[in-house]
Amino acid sequence: MKLAIAGGTGLTGAHVVDVAYARGHEVTVLSRATGVELLSGAGLAGRLDGADAVIDVSNVTTAKPDVSVSFFAGATKSLLTAERRARVSHHVALTIVGAEAAPDGYYAGKLVQERLIAGGPIPWTVLRATQFHEFAAMLFHRGHVGVHTAPRGRVQPIAVREVAEHLVDLAEAGPSGRAADLAGPREESLSDMIRDYAHAIGYRRRVPAVTPPGAYGHALTSGRLLPGPGALLGRQTYPEWLDALPDA
Ligand SMILES: NC(=O)c1ccc[n+]([C@@H]2O[C@H](COP(=O)([O-])OP(=O)(O)OC[C@H]3O[C@@H](n4cnc5c(N)ncnc54)[C@H](OP(=O)(O)O)[C@@H]3O)[C@@H](O)[C@H]2O)c1
Repeated sequence: MKLAIAGGTGLTGAHVVDVAYARGHEVTVLSRATGVELLSGAGLAGRLDGADAVIDVSNVTTAKPDVSVSFFAGATKSLLTAERRARVSHHVALTIVGAEAAPDGYYAGKLVQERLIAGGPIPWTVLRATQFHEFAAMLFHRGHVGVHTAPRGRVQPIAVREVAEHLVDLAEAGPSGRAADLAGPREESLSDMIRDYAHAIGYRRRVPAVTPPGAYGHALTSGRLLPGPGALLGRQTYPEWLDALPDA
């Protein structure tokens, strides 16, 4: 198959590209690093010719709802327009389990992305996944020495490699609408994950647990970001991921 990977230079995207190549697919990467600006659509012309599916794992890092909405709406509209012109017959996108539980921040953009895809012209598949194992590392590194904190939360983290494998499975299988959610093998305490990560990289100071504020904080602590009973479960646990860290 010929697959175009939007955001193929990012954390998830690099794994999707790797998995797709390993399975013998032809791959086109769409990102600013490869000359594509998804918000304006600049650089997209001609890049989707002959593609069987587009896998969108592009992203913006923000907690602001307006920034998130304008990124995911803009990128999704650009991709769907270019896909229609190029007669691409499958749009695959990655969103997040429990996105509706905190629609006043980053998740606002993910909800708009899902709505645009479901109401758009291209047959689609949307996969919602839980937080990646890297989420704990990202939260730890948001602080700086002496002021690292560990937000409390109930999460069921998954290996990003397994998310990438599943996205390629879904692209190969053809449009299926909203796919079953994908989650890690077991629930973890987010604050313990962050402390264990800090310990694994040699950080020896105290990392106090804090209660995260706002709707997102409530969604995290109340378990609303956990998968439902119909979710598919991945294999790698968080401790296994920590053990495999290069600097652990
Ligand atoms: N992290 C999690 O725990 C988690 C959990 C579930 C779902 N997800 C979803 O997974 C997806 C991927 O997240 P990620 O953390 O892997 O992303 P990421 O590492 O932040 O990568 C973002 C990608 O988007 C590209 N990009 C950003 N702005 C662009 C623009 N204006 N035009 C073209 N390309 C642009 C970047 O490439 P350039 O810089 O080269 O442009 C990069 O390839 C997101 O949709 C996120 O919601 C994440």
